[in-house]
Amino acid sequence: MTDALGDGLRLLRAFASNPRQIGAVLPTSRTAVRAMLDLADVPAAGLVVELGAGTGVATREILARLGPAARLVAVEIEPRLARLLTERFGDPRLQVVCGSAEDLDAHLDGDRADVVVSMLPFTSLEAGLRRRLLDVLPRALRPGGTALVIQYSPLVRGELRRRFAAVRTVVTPWNVPPAFLFACTGPGAAAAGR
Ligand SMILES: C[S@@+](CC[C@H](N)C(=O)[O-])C[C@H]1O[C@@H](n2cnc3c(N)ncnc32)[C@H](O)[C@@H]1O
Repeated sequence: MTDALGDGLRLLRAFASNPRQIGAVLPTSRTAVRAMLDLADVPAAGLVVELGAGTGVATREILARLGPAARLVAVEIEPRLARLLTERFGDPRLQVVCGSAEDLDAHLDGDRADVVVSMLPFTSLEAGLRRRLLDVLPRALRPGGTALVIQYSPLVRGELRRRFAAVRTVVTPWNVPPAFLFACTGPGAAAAGR
């Protein structure tokens, strides 16, 4: 079985057992992932964090762009997918964390990321959990860093704008369904206490 077919089945199985947590029945396309990563300077990053790494479509592309001394911390809550990521990429720059992105701080040892890549299905999550996960994005970033978010609807844009000074939006048709890509920078009104 090809990786792509196997990954499709893995995601479908995970979706069947927990649809709100997985949020998608098809893996993200490589074209959409590449368009998202083009919105930040991954090759210059010292630390990249990926949230909701799933079957590793973005993980693979981040590693391909990452410098030799840089690190990627990939967080995935579903144990079978986290195991797949560990087995698939024997790359010393990659640390796979099996757990919730809510607890990211505990895995960064006080460090902050230059780029955060979120594959999390914000719109299908319960509202309280969605807010806590969105709050992780600015908190995990170094000043000057970029948070990249992929979604299948524009609904989360307002919540991103409250947390960041600037949110650039790109829509890519090269995904099923078409994907909204957000590149978020700078502290937003919430961080300024307004
Ligand atoms: C839409 S899928 C990403 C799929 C990935 N793009 C792919 O093609 O394989 C969302 C992923 O986020 C993970 N996830 C959901 N809630 C999470 C959380 N709180 N912490 C970490 N990962 C989470 C799910 O288990 C799922 O693998």
